[in-house]
Amino acid sequence: MAILVTGGAGFIGANFVLDWLACTDEAVVNLDKLTYAGNLESLAPVVDDGRHRFVAGDICDAQLVGRLLETHRPRSIVHFAAESHVDRSIRGPGEFVRTNIEGTYTLLECARAYWSGLDTGAKDAFRFLHVSTDEVYGSLAPDAPPFAETHAYEPNSPYSASKAASDHLARAWHQTYGLPVLTTNCSNNYGPFQFPEKLIPLVIVNALAGKPLPVYGDGRQVRDWLYVGDHCAAIRTVLASGRIGETYNVGGWNEIANIDIVHTVCRLLDGLRPSSAGPYEQLIRFVADRPGHDRRYAIDARKIERELGWRPAETFDSGIAKTLRWYLDHGDWVGHVQSGAYREWMARHYDGAGSAP
Ligand code: NAD
Ligand code: TYD
Repeated sequence: MAILVTGGAGFIGANFVLDWLACTDEAVVNLDKLTYAGNLESLAPVVDDGRHRFVAGDICDAQLVGRLLETHRPRSIVHFAAESHVDRSIRGPGEFVRTNIEGTYTLLECARAYWSGLDTGAKDAFRFLHVSTDEVYGSLAPDAPPFAETHAYEPNSPYSASKAASDHLARAWHQTYGLPVLTTNCSNNYGPFQFPEKLIPLVIVNALAGKPLPVYGDGRQVRDWLYVGDHCAAIRTVLASGRIGETYNVGGWNEIANIDIVHTVCRLLDGLRPSSAGPYEQLIRFVADRPGHDRRYAIDARKIERELGWRPAETFDSGIAKTLRWYLDHGDWVGHVQSGAYREWMARHYDGAGSAP
């Protein structure tokens, strides 16, 4: 038995593949294009594991996807591959439309062709799990209840609009063709292997390098933070026992303002790796706000708890402590990331205090 994972060299995908191989015997075929965000070094622990089969390729390549399905005959597809950074989507939305919308369409069509040809038992067991985001719901007012699965879709960035479109395609492929689709909409993740363009790893890496810590606008935007290992556990749970055609919101019950995240990381680093230049929070710089910046996300994760018994295991305190420890212990991983295309991006967009995102 095997599953096909897309985007398994990215942040969440790599965590998922490592966790999967640690807690099951089942093989993983990992299809990833290795964009700037794909990093095979994250999968170094399973380089000699015969159950992990890495395939460099594009989810938009229908021939390749079709061939992989026919060759490996997976019992499920877990679809992570996406362009995932909001700031990049503002600068260049084209790749987001291509990968997130056309890529998901291609996968759904290939999955449908493959699934249609399965025998009854395999057909009943097959699942297509589409990994999505809470950002499709748009922005919450300060006192509004958190996003339930029934919340209207109101995406505000090219990233969230492209993810919303992919969610709609996944839904339609279930409603129209009967493809056994499951969708998860998760809040902001943090943890090991996250590319240091996202808030938490960016703050860790910049602080350790003595570089400015850019905070967009007033820094009072709120996100609901979830440790990546908890997200991986939620996906395994939904894959195993989610009801076909349903969506499940996944969140950490951890609403925190960006500026408080930045202060927390600085304070913890002051304890773990003090700087001779003084407290890290001296590096905080308020910079121009992100256009269309969503003010608040928060997830109502009661459905997945009630139906499937999943709850996050980590608190923010335990998760951020693990994350900081990981970044401090993996300077090589960070250094190698920084010597690639990441550096050009960083130089263009973040070097020097006060530059806009
Ligand atoms: P990431 O950017 O770290 O990784 C994306 C991976 O997809 C990379 O390995 C990249 O090489 C690969 N990829 C990109 N385009 C591809 C293509 N055309 N074909 C094949 N592979 C391609 O993203 P992430 O943070 O790990 O997010 C994974 C998924 O989870 C995404 O679908 C994202 O929308 C969703 N999600 C992320 C978060 C978060 O906080 N990071 C929260 C909720 C949902
Ligand atoms: P990010 O990690 O990009 O995730 P998302 O935009 O998907 O929520 O950003 C998290 C929050 O942090 C978001 O409100 C934007 C803000 N932010 C900053 O203030 N400074 C930064 O340098 C970055 C990357 C993000």
